[in-house]
Amino acid sequence: MIQFILNDKDICTTASQGSVLLDFIRNELHLTGTKEGCREGDCGACTVLLGEIKSEGPSGSEELHYNYINSCLMPLGDVHGKHVVTIEGLNSEELTPIQKAFVDEGGTQCGFCTPGFIVSLTGYFLINQNYKALEAIDSMNGNICRCTGYSGIKRAAEKVVSNFNLGENEALIFDRLIESQIIPDYFKGIENRLNELNKKLKTQVSIDGYDQYEFLISGGTDIYVQKWESLINSPVNLISNEKKFSFIEEADGEIRVGSTTTISELENSSLLNNYFPEFQKYLKLFGSIPIRNRATVGGNIVNASPIGDMTNIFLALDSRVHISDGKSKRQVQLKNFFKGYKTLDLRENELVEAVSFSIPKPNSRFNYEKVSKRTFLDIASVNSSMYIELNEKQIIEVHISAGGVAPIPLYLSRTREYFLGKTISEDIIFSALEVSLDEISPISDARGTAEYKSLLLRQLILAHFIKLFPEYVNDLVIT
Ligand SMILES: Cc1cc2nc3c(=O)[nH]c(=O)nc-3n(C[C@H](O)[C@H](O)[C@H](O)COP(=O)(O)OP(=O)(O)OC[C@H]3O[C@@H](n4cnc5c(N)ncnc54)[C@H](O)[C@@H]3O)c2cc1C
Ligand code: FES
Ligand code: FES
Repeated sequence: MIQFILNDKDICTTASQGSVLLDFIRNELHLTGTKEGCREGDCGACTVLLGEIKSEGPSGSEELHYNYINSCLMPLGDVHGKHVVTIEGLNSEELTPIQKAFVDEGGTQCGFCTPGFIVSLTGYFLINQNYKALEAIDSMNGNICRCTGYSGIKRAAEKVVSNFNLGENEALIFDRLIESQIIPDYFKGIENRLNELNKKLKTQVSIDGYDQYEFLISGGTDIYVQKWESLINSPVNLISNEKKFSFIEEADGEIRVGSTTTISELENSSLLNNYFPEFQKYLKLFGSIPIRNRATVGGNIVNASPIGDMTNIFLALDSRVHISDGKSKRQVQLKNFFKGYKTLDLRENELVEAVSFSIPKPNSRFNYEKVSKRTFLDIASVNSSMYIELNEKQIIEVHISAGGVAPIPLYLSRTREYFLGKTISEDIIFSALEVSLDEISPISDARGTAEYKSLLLRQLILAHFIKLFPEYVNDLVIT
């Protein structure tokens, strides 16, 4: 039995855990404002808000938090105990200020994409405390419009931001959103209703064992694209709500990241941003906001795509994968985890619980590069990360990853061997490039020819050095 609140209504359904939220909304509840476009997380027509009681921030107090997600990639079972808001749940007698701005600024024509845009922008106001026009526009980066063009949509976002007066008292943000009619009145009661619901449900949610389900699903952003039809009526193990796998912590000289930690949670982690000042910039190249709100670290690693972005970063941090079958635990170096194309050192009854890596040394530097056909919202043609430690000019440790140039996410072990102990110089870097190109085996496909991918990797490794060591490689000539 799945129980949740949909807009203002309590829902209790025996529909299957693995069925798709979008189908339930449209076909069972007949709320057709949420549109079905690509069904692959690309267009945002199916965007809904998801509210849940979570402990966040230093106080750790449990509060209602909203996010927005693609309902086409969302298992229905994952909304158990949560609040789902569709476009109908934002409507009231009059247009909301966001809807009105879209009309006034010519932000809509056929209207197919419009509910998704309105939900995303409303999500921006619910999630944030301070509003800026550029961020409001960026909040709709998972939404595509095929007929209006984006100027009217951008103007609409700018208008709502400039008209919305936040006032001084941050505690009143929720009330002020209701007062400004950005969200309807019933939102006031949702936190209490969810708390009541979750008290009732607490004993019903559990993970019993890993081997009794046909499919294990975390954020669902890979598996629902690949095989949603197989998931609808199969026994599924939904792990994304499992709190014990959701953490980012520092202990015993290492950083540990739980497998159900989402990309958005990584993006907002002060711990990671402290050690890697450009971390948020890297993760902005990962999918769209609604994808990052669901996509998890464990899913990225186990999906084993040769161009997985988090896998690429964790490889260059020389990470360990923490694996468990529910009874016993083991660890594997991430660079040894991938055995062949989509073949892993992971048994059927095992799951990935976490990934960990040593705290970066004070004399270390880190960089990540991704080239894709589009800068944003695209998977990589080739990606690469590099972690390097120097003593003066001598390289005492280095790890380089290379995605999209082999059947597996690749760790360049021979390049590392070549670099170790050497004094950094242009000659050494160019000789190392030869070694790295000898380690890879790219194939020609839709994302480029084998020759092009080799060239890309070469340039990305050079880019690491140009970014990290401008003082040593200032005059580097890229040929
Ligand atoms: C529109 C779109 C854009 C995307 N953009 C990017 C991008 O820019 N970069 C990128 O790297 N990826 C991208 N992806 C791919 C995807 O979002 C990521 O790979 C994501 O990290 C997968 O995580 P998930 O939790 O959604 O995985 P799921 O779909 O839940 O699972 C993927 C696979 O891993 C298994 N699995 C999941 N968690 C575990 C675990 N803890 N233990 C064992 N097995 C597990 C599942 O059984 C399944 O086989 C994109 C996807 C979409 C749809
Ligand atoms: S239908 Fe396109 S993102 Fe869901
Ligand atoms: S208004 Fe037609 S797709 Fe956006």
